[in-house]
Amino acid sequence: MNSILEIQHLSKHYFINKEIIEVLKDINFKVKDDEIIAIVGASGCGKSSLLSIISNLLDYTDGKIIYRKPLTFGYMFQSDTLFPWLTVRDNCLLGLKITKKDYPSKEKELDSLLKKYHLDAFKDKYPHNLSGGMRQRVQLIRTILINPDILLLDEPFSALDYQTHLYIADDVYKLVKSNKKAMIIVTHDIEEAVSIADKVIVLSNRPSSIIKEIAINKHNLNPLQFRKTEKFLEYTNEIWELMNNG
Ligand SMILES: Nc1ncnc2c1ncn2[C@@H]1O[C@H](COP(=O)(O)OP(=O)(O)O)[C@@H](O)[C@H]1O
Ligand SMILES: [Mg+2]
Repeated sequence: MNSILEIQHLSKHYFINKEIIEVLKDINFKVKDDEIIAIVGASGCGKSSLLSIISNLLDYTDGKIIYRKPLTFGYMFQSDTLFPWLTVRDNCLLGLKITKKDYPSKEKELDSLLKKYHLDAFKDKYPHNLSGGMRQRVQLIRTILINPDILLLDEPFSALDYQTHLYIADDVYKLVKSNKKAMIIVTHDIEEAVSIADKVIVLSNRPSSIIKEIAINKHNLNPLQFRKTEKFLEYTNEIWELMNNG
């Protein structure tokens, strides 16, 4: 239907010291233009590799990816990618500058995000003044401000304390839904995946293939509300079982 990208029979091997490490094996899924997909899998199963492949930063070994239209990506890496010599504000605006978007018109949006994510008092500070969780929020703002067709978030809330995590995940969900954009989030956190996604893709251990694709029907509840339901527990239990037997 209105899929913007399709991944078909995708495989990825790495070569280390003449040895082949088989990471991804025959991965297939589609992404619709307004869909939130969460990919869950154990540490080391190839989630970050998959996001890098989708964003064209990393080659794959076999299969193909079909892009139905030219897409802009907003990729938030798992590792800390802030520049130590730039202030919080300039780090936030960096993505816009690189993509040559008109950043002066984004100042208002930036101010509102800084306030919402409790960083406004730090906007003229440098990354070394910030905690890990704060740095992660700066990276998130930088990615959101680009307003891409598809957000690719690699464990974006991992450094946040539990309360902040819940609040910001909820906010990102509302933002993506209100802009009718697509998002792929990878995480090892089953609850995070179930609460935010329209579809959860469960990966096996390496070489990773898809154990199951689960449509999550949230009945129009946002992540915070959905977490309080019986259905949420059922989905998380189902995925937990799959990952432990997969
Ligand atoms: N550039 C690389 N060269 C060789 N091996 C790599 C490289 N990047 C990742 N790997 C290996 O591939 C596997 C999957 O890594 P990764 O995609 O980071 O998994 P995840 O994000 O699920 O933790 C790991 O065993 C990792 O050591
Ligand atoms: Mg990773």
